[in-house]
Amino acid sequence: METKHLLAPMMGVENSQAVREAAAILRRGGLVAIPTETVYGLAANALVPEAVKRIFVAKGRPQDNPLIVHIADMAGIESLIRTMPPCAVKLADAFWPGPLTMVFPKTDLVPDVVSGGLDTVAIRIPAHPVAREIIRTAGIPLAAPSANRSGKPSPTTAQHVLEDLGGRIDAVLDAGPCSIGVESTVVSLRSGTPHLLRPGGITPKELETVAGNITMDAAVLSQMQADETPASPGMKYRHYAPQTKLVLVQGSWKEFLAYVLGKDKPYGVLCFDEDAQAAPQPCLTYGSIHDANQQAVQLFDALRRVDTLGVGTVYVRAPAAEGVGLAVYNRLLRAAAFRVVSL
Ligand code: TXA
Ligand code: MG
Repeated sequence: METKHLLAPMMGVENSQAVREAAAILRRGGLVAIPTETVYGLAANALVPEAVKRIFVAKGRPQDNPLIVHIADMAGIESLIRTMPPCAVKLADAFWPGPLTMVFPKTDLVPDVVSGGLDTVAIRIPAHPVAREIIRTAGIPLAAPSANRSGKPSPTTAQHVLEDLGGRIDAVLDAGPCSIGVESTVVSLRSGTPHLLRPGGITPKELETVAGNITMDAAVLSQMQADETPASPGMKYRHYAPQTKLVLVQGSWKEFLAYVLGKDKPYGVLCFDEDAQAAPQPCLTYGSIHDANQQAVQLFDALRRVDTLGVGTVYVRAPAAEGVGLAVYNRLLRAAAFRVVSL
């Protein structure tokens, strides 16, 4: 299959030829990678099981890992979920459209293949104007996981999508790089109170300001045991990972440098912009130590470059796990298969 590279206009998204073409493919049951403010998503008609199944095939995704359903506005939610607790209404008012996904008890309209057999469904209203216009033009809810091959870092550019899925999907709609760079915050409202399943663009503090106390799933910061049933199936898989072995190293620059200089060559490092001049080579960077938003924007591109360094191991200087940095840390932890050294 040839993957069409459609260019979304920077301005005047409405009525654009590229958006109409993408929407037509989706209505026919095809697969289109679409831009969102977090990462690119691989979209299909969420209400047609055959279309959704193609997502799992293209990505090589395990069937029990459920998908997020994307809608354009609140009118789209009623037929998909059974109840919406008051705190969810507050969260929706505050953060939709935006990088927040909420998990609710699902209706029968949501196919089992979308929910991975669970009785819940994850919903998001994305803020990206192109994403919203596609959903509106197609007139259907879109199931969309991140548009990477399963296990690889999520794509933040159309080029990343084509590297992973070129020839396996109908089209990619290119609207340039994503502005947030890590996936949405996932919160379960299954029990009525917010439970954080995956940190992302909306921080725990922002959630608490609006919804009061939230609880955090154990899987956010630690490894699931083989016999545990995770609240969010995606948490149990190796994820975001290059082929190269990563080790996450927590400590000051001085401590980090002393630690890596004691290692046998060849190895590489992934550190902050401020560290680069004094870093051993080869070295990649993922933004400023002082700017978690910038780290989020650059992280997945840097992880995709790690394999080009031609070394067996890359030592990564760990970010502060606060604010959006919690999401950056969470992704690195998985990319490093939970290999962490604290100095
Ligand atoms: O920013 C994002 O969220 C992007 C863009 C495209 O919207 N999407 C994304 O999808 O990251 P994906 O499939 O890569 O991650 C969805 C996460 C997975 O960890 C999955 O297990 C979890 O959400 N999830 C989906 N439905 C769920 C449900 N019903 N209950 C618990 N977790 C769920
Ligand atoms: Mg993903």
